[in-house]
Amino acid sequence: MLNIEELLATRRLILLGGKGGVGKTTMSSALAVLAASTGRKVLLVSTDPAHSLSDAFGRSIGDHITMLAPQLWALEIDPDKEADAYLERVLAQMRRYAGPDQIHELQRHLQLSRQSPGAQEAALLERLAKVIEDGLQNYDTVILDTAPTGHTLRLLSLPEVMAAWTDGLLRHNKRSQHLSSVLKHLTPSRSIDSLTGDPNQHHSADLDDKDAELLNTLLRRQQLFNRTRRLLHDIEHTAFVFVLTPERLPILETERAVQALMSQDIPVAGLIVNRLLPPMDDSNFWAHRRQQQEKHMLDLHHRLPTLRRCLVSLQADDIVGLESLQMLGNHLISSSVGVTD
Ligand SMILES: Nc1ncnc2c1ncn2[C@@H]1O[C@H](COP(=O)(O)OP(=O)(O)O)[C@@H](O)[C@H]1O
Ligand SMILES: [Mg+2]
Repeated sequence: MLNIEELLATRRLILLGGKGGVGKTTMSSALAVLAASTGRKVLLVSTDPAHSLSDAFGRSIGDHITMLAPQLWALEIDPDKEADAYLERVLAQMRRYAGPDQIHELQRHLQLSRQSPGAQEAALLERLAKVIEDGLQNYDTVILDTAPTGHTLRLLSLPEVMAAWTDGLLRHNKRSQHLSSVLKHLTPSRSIDSLTGDPNQHHSADLDDKDAELLNTLLRRQQLFNRTRRLLHDIEHTAFVFVLTPERLPILETERAVQALMSQDIPVAGLIVNRLLPPMDDSNFWAHRRQQQEKHMLDLHHRLPTLRRCLVSLQADDIVGLESLQMLGNHLISSSVGVTD
């Protein structure tokens, strides 16, 4: 069974995934409150532009670490702002390479990049990687509301995607040919793990200071991604948990996400099935709905038979505020079921 107490006791990094609206923010918040109430120092992080942690706790949080309760801190990262800040940093660095005549072209290119989902994901992933790394140094437990999945995680496992993107930024640059060859050294065919912090090892003495600095920046980013990748594969300390409702689309999407993670050798610790209807009289609408859910629960069990589950009933009220979240946390502890249930 998905034992929430054990999960909180053993894992330092917990990432919750799932379709919009299934209850990720609510469950992450409840787990964070629960972990903090057992004395762990907890950082709860969301990447939802809708500032949903603020909604769950009924108070404003935003993009700085905010204390919510004893031992409990939270941070809301805005992916759009993150992408802007990231591209600003890239532009500042690129400016030093471009001649005055190329600046306009470069800005146009960055403007286009800003719209591209790849740039958003890259920016968000870099920020997340830093927040997770700093978080694990300063907190006992880091809980991430909305785990990066699928395509985003591919950025970690295929660092050449990042390098190619950066390379694209340099396309209008006179030096681009030279830099492209430099960047190729960031994507050795054997393993990214073979990279070290010394750019000279990857390219010989024909680098000037600026090129070496750029190469260093890219190397540092890839090393950060390497460490994050290792963390995400570390099943002793890290857990991916999926939240879903017993309905067709959330089940299909969860199945796809679990498979996407498994194809990258990232195991999933378990599922939280939310909004279960309590058992009721046969004759009414809700009983029918309940039967529908039971059918979907069987289907879920059939599709993902080995994943442990935790069941949460639909509540009469929205779950807002510390007290409700604490109650939900306690409920999570008592509602774990084994895969054979
Ligand atoms: N078991 C439940 N019973 C009643 N309301 C719930 C339950 N789980 C979540 N909610 C409510 O549903 C809404 C959406 O939940 P949320 O956690 O924000 O979803 P997500 O983060 O997956 O988009 C919130 O208002 C939350 O309080
Ligand atoms: Mg949310």
